[in-house]
Amino acid sequence: MNNFDMPALRKGTACIKWDFQEADFGRTGLLPFSIADADYRTYQPIIDALKQRVDNGVIGYTDLNEEYFSAVKGWCSRRHGWTPESSWIVPVGGIVPAMSTAIEVLTEPGAGVIVQPPVYDPFYSIIEASGRKILKNDLLKTDDGYRMDLAGLEKLAENGASMLLLCSPHNPVCRVWTYEELKALADICRRYGIIVVSDEIHWDLILGDRPHVTMGTFPELYDQLIVCTSCSKTFNLAGLETSNLIIPGARIREQYQAYLYARYLFVPNTLGLEAVKAAYKDGDDWVDRQCAYLRKNAQIVKDFLEEKLPEVRLADVEGTYLLWLDMTAFGLSSDELVSRIAEAGAGLNSGVHYGEAYDGFVRMNVACPEQQLTEGLNCILKALKGAES
Ligand SMILES: Cc1ncc(COP(=O)(O)O)c(C=O)c1O
Repeated sequence: MNNFDMPALRKGTACIKWDFQEADFGRTGLLPFSIADADYRTYQPIIDALKQRVDNGVIGYTDLNEEYFSAVKGWCSRRHGWTPESSWIVPVGGIVPAMSTAIEVLTEPGAGVIVQPPVYDPFYSIIEASGRKILKNDLLKTDDGYRMDLAGLEKLAENGASMLLLCSPHNPVCRVWTYEELKALADICRRYGIIVVSDEIHWDLILGDRPHVTMGTFPELYDQLIVCTSCSKTFNLAGLETSNLIIPGARIREQYQAYLYARYLFVPNTLGLEAVKAAYKDGDDWVDRQCAYLRKNAQIVKDFLEEKLPEVRLADVEGTYLLWLDMTAFGLSSDELVSRIAEAGAGLNSGVHYGEAYDGFVRMNVACPEQQLTEGLNCILKALKGAES
């Protein structure tokens, strides 16, 4: 049996997606397709490396060594054609807290921070929590899928925005941005001195034909760029809270690090470091196989919808495992859709969380064994065919 076909034992492990459903759905016992982690086991050499480290019997303070730097740089270089210098690598815990720190450290209170809705909802809350202003540059919805509104971006830039939170690939619309789109964005941000925090947490999960282009491709932006990378989605290690920011520009990097040092926020997670080394050392083949599996899962959803629920429109799946479903044809709000689908047994995310204009949309995580996916699709069918009558 394919590793990805085997359900991991998650229920009963205090797993957010399986064991804490009450808060999101008002009920329990659902097949979950919500929070962004995967329901299959990670790459076995990571598990072996963790076991070996635990067997040492002491999980003391640890720091980054040359082996760590070369593993991270090797991955960036092999998988993304970009080789950062070791000194640019800043280890952090989660990407969201790290982005939140970037806002606090690199912008002034009240400054404008651009986001491009519909987008991963914590982008909004971290801006608000820091007392900065959310500047929305909504994606354009065209017949050919979602596009960045570069004219809108330029307008916000002209009006004095300080920072842009880029989601690349974009959660939840599954876009893998083109070189041209990113180059244009880089040009605008460089001209207006806007710091780009590029959240590339999904950069290894490319399901369409177009390769991911990291913002590290644009040296003209290096003085004002943070690239956020992690093994957490790629290798299903979110609970280890170990990620790497890559900050090429010395000035903003030193500012960022000074903030961390002053608050003693610089001690890495010992087990997280082991996992990153094992993953990046030679996890390439596992990630390629995972992407093939996710591609197949996305196709299963597409075929199912085309055959049984043609009213639902699925955004082209270029990257991420978080599918974006337009269910507006049913005339229900996102919350009503989520609630009806939950009644039928499956947990999906409400689209309106990602942008006010997306009521009637839902997000579905397909990083799960095929059998679970098929059961979930049948729950959606039951919920929507019931909703129509
Ligand atoms: C775009 C994006 N950024 C960040 C995160 C979360 O990162 P972390 O758990 O490292 O804070 C997610 C998780 O879904 C995500 O989709």
